Amino acid sequence: MADHTEEDITSVLHENRLFKPKSEFSKQSHVKSRAAYDRLYKKAEKDPEGFWGELAKSELHWFKPWTKVLDWKPPFAKWFVGGTTNVSFNCLDRHLDGPRKNKAALIWEGESGDSRTLTYQDLHREVSKFANVLKNKGVKKGDRVAIYMPMIPELAIAMLSCARIGATHSIIFGGFSAAALRDRINDAEAKLVVTADGGYRKGGVITLKEKVDEALEAAPSVETMIVVNRTGTEVSMKKGRDFWWHDEMQGASAVCKAAALSSEHPLFILYTSGTTGKPKGVVHTTGGYLLGATITSKWVFDLKEEDTYWCTADIGWVTGHSYIIYGILSNGATSVMYEGVPTYPAPDRFWAIVEKYRVNIFYTAPTAIRALSKLGKEWPKKHDLSSLRLLGTVGEPINPEAWMWYHAVIGGRRCPIVDTWWQTETGAIMITPLPGAIPAKPGSATLPFPGISAEVVNKDGKKVPPNVGGYLVITRPWPSMLRTVWRNPKRYKETYWSDIPGVYFSGDGARRDKDGYFWIMGRVDDVMNISGHRLGTMEIESALVSHPTVAESAVVGAPDEIKGTSVCAFVTLELGQSPSEDLKNKLKSHVVKEIGAIARPDQIRFTDNLPKTRSGKIMRRLLRDIAAGRESVGDTSTLEDYTVLAKLRHDDEA
Ligand code: WTA
Repeated sequence: MADHTEEDITSVLHENRLFKPKSEFSKQSHVKSRAAYDRLYKKAEKDPEGFWGELAKSELHWFKPWTKVLDWKPPFAKWFVGGTTNVSFNCLDRHLDGPRKNKAALIWEGESGDSRTLTYQDLHREVSKFANVLKNKGVKKGDRVAIYMPMIPELAIAMLSCARIGATHSIIFGGFSAAALRDRINDAEAKLVVTADGGYRKGGVITLKEKVDEALEAAPSVETMIVVNRTGTEVSMKKGRDFWWHDEMQGASAVCKAAALSSEHPLFILYTSGTTGKPKGVVHTTGGYLLGATITSKWVFDLKEEDTYWCTADIGWVTGHSYIIYGILSNGATSVMYEGVPTYPAPDRFWAIVEKYRVNIFYTAPTAIRALSKLGKEWPKKHDLSSLRLLGTVGEPINPEAWMWYHAVIGGRRCPIVDTWWQTETGAIMITPLPGAIPAKPGSATLPFPGISAEVVNKDGKKVPPNVGGYLVITRPWPSMLRTVWRNPKRYKETYWSDIPGVYFSGDGARRDKDGYFWIMGRVDDVMNISGHRLGTMEIESALVSHPTVAESAVVGAPDEIKGTSVCAFVTLELGQSPSEDLKNKLKSHVVKEIGAIARPDQIRFTDNLPKTRSGKIMRRLLRDIAAGRESVGDTSTLEDYTVLAKLRHDDEA
């Protein structure tokens, strides 16, 4: 845990508005009332294993039933022990026997306006074929496949194909640099990479294959690369290693039985930032993960057979894994997938897509809502948004102002909003209103999902009183929890199960109000949330220090109206180096090269000394104050000096 005090995370927010679900909505929803939620919650509380076991039976298809719901050797959990199942089977095959077989599974929209619809039957055929391609290339159960792709249907096909044969996928967001890609491929020792020549973004082409080529110069585990031709960008194909998707698919058989996999078989690894320079490979397994993704999709989004559902996340993040693909397809619903940015070719692109496909359920990030609301309501007003019946948010706290705009302008004051708190590690939504049951308060994620026992505690694990800030923890294992950090159980234990005794520590601060509602206050560790994307301060610091001119650096987040947090880097240069605007730009580009554009520092501030405590620890709290403009150093020349402030702070704290 970082140098935060409890006052730091005590909220100053006071939001009293209450938005009750409309009775027409409640009547038709899966969980219809507060009383129904309370019953589910209490039932799960009394007998968690019974609760989850029953759902696993009713919501999923098993080849062989489990013999034990939970094997809990803290902090290591196994769910549905002895059972065998397959995620691809649950998302595809089981829908082929009835009327869903010709229903749209994926409706895809390219950035340039091209569109493709894959029915369940179509998707099943493509997935079976690509699963055979993987097999033909020597990929076996348990092998890792890295996926580095734009938001195109082949990405969905690739991940479901891995799941079908028991290959563990590791999807790397297309915005990461070649260096970041290489590190992730090497950590997972991937055998095969699936990519595309490029993808469309903001009207231009981003290259991908080129970056994979660069990464593979130092990634010896990779034997094969499969390349989708998306943009027609010229690429060089290495003989014997690189193959075109369309060539391989041409001759592939469309018959590939879904493998019967143990419930604990690793489905995917997803790298996420932590408090060290090295991202963690969060491991999710099969049965428990799918149950979490499936039941939350159904109850939180109130998914119905006739719904068209759209989540705007990128599949490179956990939200896309659970709520574009696995949880949504497992329910046999229709998922819209969009390749591009919200503002291309104009700021109404999201609303145009909602109108075009008559989207009923829309799930996005607060940062997108804030950015789009700034552009004015004339953009959404140009479109018929009357198909919408439910809205959701994820990724960061939503400020009440943005919530109200979403509610009034997008939801026409008729749609419930689900503010869903969860993490890469939790696999599925943990704290959220159930839309027909729980009145919303703008800015609050409200109450835990049934079966999830969340609490706000102090450092000793003691529950804090209402409206006092503390640490957000989960006190019991849950089916979709991460199982470990890839090949690093020690880090798993230390990161999540050590700071506060006996419970899972999320890294977030929170408070509960007198109604028991959760108000998430953001990270209390050295992880930032930039536009809803997680980035470790240490990761950016190591990138900066790897530049020859930099001696030392400290990165902190600063409040930002649109992005939530912006990246502020304090940099001390090597002796003999002089600060300049040009060097600032060079350092920014260097971070982009090392990590990716998402990590580009918004500000670089040169200082000849970083403020430190007597024991040599960087005083991040002081830097956060400076970055936020709460503390002035008086001198705004290129080279700042914080030693005076640090000294004052010392005397204060001594
Ligand atoms: C933050 C994204 C407030 C939180 C699914 C968490 C939120 C981190 C919310 C996980 C929310 C996510 N309200 N904060 N509704 N949802 N967060 O792993 O700090 O990319 O720890 O998973 O995002 O980010 P991750």
